[in-house]
Amino acid sequence: MRRAFTAVLGAASLLLAMLVAVALPASAAPGTLGEAAAAKGRVFGTAAAQGHMGESAYATTLDREFNQLTPENEMKWETTEPSRDSFNFSAADQLVSHAQARSMAVRGHTLVWHSQLPGWVSGISSRDDLLGVMRNHIAKEAGHFAGKVDYWDVVNEAFQDGSGARRDSVFQRVIGDGYIEEAFRAARQADPNAKLCYNDYNIDGQNAKSNAVYTMVQDFKARGVPIDCVGLQAHLTLGNVPSDMQANMQRFAALGVDVHITELDIRMNTPADSSKLATQANDYKKVVQACLAVPRCTVITVWGITDKYSWVPDTFPGEGAALLFDDNYNKKPAYDAALEALGGEPGDPGDPGDPGSVSCAYTRTSQWNNGFNGQVTITAGSSAISSWTVVMTLNSGQTISALWNGSAGTSGNVVTVKPVGWNSTLAAGTSASFGFTASAPGGNVSDPSVTCGTP
Ligand code: XIL
Repeated sequence: MRRAFTAVLGAASLLLAMLVAVALPASAAPGTLGEAAAAKGRVFGTAAAQGHMGESAYATTLDREFNQLTPENEMKWETTEPSRDSFNFSAADQLVSHAQARSMAVRGHTLVWHSQLPGWVSGISSRDDLLGVMRNHIAKEAGHFAGKVDYWDVVNEAFQDGSGARRDSVFQRVIGDGYIEEAFRAARQADPNAKLCYNDYNIDGQNAKSNAVYTMVQDFKARGVPIDCVGLQAHLTLGNVPSDMQANMQRFAALGVDVHITELDIRMNTPADSSKLATQANDYKKVVQACLAVPRCTVITVWGITDKYSWVPDTFPGEGAALLFDDNYNKKPAYDAALEALGGEPGDPGDPGDPGSVSCAYTRTSQWNNGFNGQVTITAGSSAISSWTVVMTLNSGQTISALWNGSAGTSGNVVTVKPVGWNSTLAAGTSASFGFTASAPGGNVSDPSVTCGTP
């Protein structure tokens, strides 16, 4: 009897050991930002723009790496209510359904802001009128997205740098200090389930501005004004992560609100070089570590997928390279640093987006009135690759009339080119090329944009 029992026990523990072996593969560390953040109970998001979603590398990188999406401009007042009480949510709806189909969380950005505000609102001078307009905007927009938006930036950038005084906006001038709490009350009414945040820049460390926000949140909590979170935009410059960022997040958390890092980017003077990229990697690591050290820091969102479309060069001339993926959707050192800080494991050479796994160069070989020939050369990095993909975005009116040494698929103006077979495998440092003829009946012979990756 006793022997039989031991045998059963032995068999059971063998089975258990086998189950554990199956459940825990050799490399258990998560390989993407979203997975790694999820394993820490956080989300890792990005701003995304509907206008770029047709570019396959853009959408692929978004879907692979991120589990939260913030429409970059599509939910701003000038887009959603360009004229009084006439609403257009189409671009935002498309981004929201993309996110929902992939179980990504959605951040609504933003209901009340002095910028990207249509002229008909900035021109209002009656308090009752503007309060009614603001409440209506919030009711309609937050109402439209209710159940689909996880967090709202209810009010954005209401304080001044330096002094921490209220920023002079039409809302501040015409309604007065009370506009912020009125906005939060209206948002709660329109969407009782979304987390409602106050969002601002230069409140990442402790300073006069973050002190002013802190005092406001403390007052809101004391008086029962509905607020759930504070968004630190974190538009940072190279080498300048505030040393008290963690302490600052902790003090907000202690008021009983969540803390979100909402628009993270770390810009540098361009061009980038390896030493600046290494500093940037260390900066991203510091931000991720600060967030992980604060249990109520639950969201980290970067302000864009690729340096190619970052807002930085337009706003700060001479600066850029602020994000985790370069112009060709290759992972930068900052990507690996952020992933590692989240407990993830940077991938093997040749993984999608792996730095240096493949690069490509475009040359126009000839042109005429209404067409041109181009050639793309793909070069493997420090390891061999077994295949490659080139994505070319053609300019308006252009089509490919012939393509050789590559196999092309076309969707709108985006042409995806794969190897033909014999030119698929490339040893480290070696190259393959394909060529094409583009016709441009309208006479627009400008070069396509070309990106490449593996596979
Ligand atoms: C920026 C967008 O990235 C740009 O495309 C747009 O032209 C201007 O606005 N703080 C914010 C964001 O809250 O909405 C801003 O986004 C960047 C600064």
